[in-house]
Amino acid sequence: MAFVERVFSGVQPTGNLHLGNYLGAIVNFVKMQETHNCIYCVVDLHALTQPVEVWGGPSELARNTREVTAAFIAAGIDPKKHIVFNQSQVSGHAELAWIFNCVARVGWLNRMTQFKEKAGKDRENASVGLYDYPVLMAADILLYRATHVPVGDDQKQHLELSRDIAQKFNNDFGDSIRGHGFNDGMYFPLPEPFITGPATRVMSLRDGTKKMSKSDASDYSRINLTDDADTIAQKIRKAKTDPEPLPSEEKGLEPRPEADNLVGIYAALSERPKAGVLREFGGGQFSSFKNALVELCVAKLSPIAAEMKRLVADPGHVDAILIEGADRARAIAAETMKATQDIVGFVRKR
Ligand code: TRP
Repeated sequence: MAFVERVFSGVQPTGNLHLGNYLGAIVNFVKMQETHNCIYCVVDLHALTQPVEVWGGPSELARNTREVTAAFIAAGIDPKKHIVFNQSQVSGHAELAWIFNCVARVGWLNRMTQFKEKAGKDRENASVGLYDYPVLMAADILLYRATHVPVGDDQKQHLELSRDIAQKFNNDFGDSIRGHGFNDGMYFPLPEPFITGPATRVMSLRDGTKKMSKSDASDYSRINLTDDADTIAQKIRKAKTDPEPLPSEEKGLEPRPEADNLVGIYAALSERPKAGVLREFGGGQFSSFKNALVELCVAKLSPIAAEMKRLVADPGHVDAILIEGADRARAIAAETMKATQDIVGFVRKR
């Protein structure tokens, strides 16, 4: 069966969104609206997998859920044409995750590098949810039988796991799937990651070898989506560089992670290739390039920050968007859950 192409992606409501989230994921969310039906989810169930001190407790969770929603809308996601909602409000995510828990193998999860990183040394003390996180992620995507998933490159391995789960489900239940009218035996599609753009990996402004991250102790390492123009200017002016002028060719960036990162950010925000940026700024001093970068960042990000501020000040409006989105998501999810229950052999009301 040819699957209808559908896009699904999620962002965790666990604290400040930054330029890395924006360029690595949200920009692609916005673009894919032109070509696909899209579902964008604030994954609040995933937020709970970390210790409560990390996600901040109930009022922080609610605040961050609204803030991520506001960022989606401010960046240009249209919640009328597409679907924006928070994960906990569609029970199918947790229900399908249980079935997938019984499809996924312990050996598969043991290979997940993000779990190893996040659990750290004290693995015994990590939540079971953190370990199971990628299975819930597979359920998120496959509950809508989504085919394309725009994500940052750190999520590639989790996407592969989603494909493995879809494939094993299709194999394990192949006869039943065919028996229920899916003649090629493929009930779930194998979702494809969609990772593009010159700055899918935005690095720290203090260390070009580390990813920009909300958990970095220094706020100077990142540009938050809610930073005002002065803050953005200060952070870029203080960003680490090296004493050499900018190269004129992309090759010259290779041994210079900080220069590469700043040129990548400029390229992504101006929607130009890095080579074109270097043609303009190559040979010049960092200080003048940084001035241009400040101008570009402020021009691109301050309208988003202003719109986010406006939206967050009206939580009733944001909540209404999420509620309406969840209603529409639930209707799609209900179809998948009914078919899945039939395929697995759960007796249900008709
Ligand atoms: N794990 C993703 C991240 O941290 C968030 C996420 C949860 C997600 N479920 C998803 C992304 C489903 C894409 C599809 O970035």
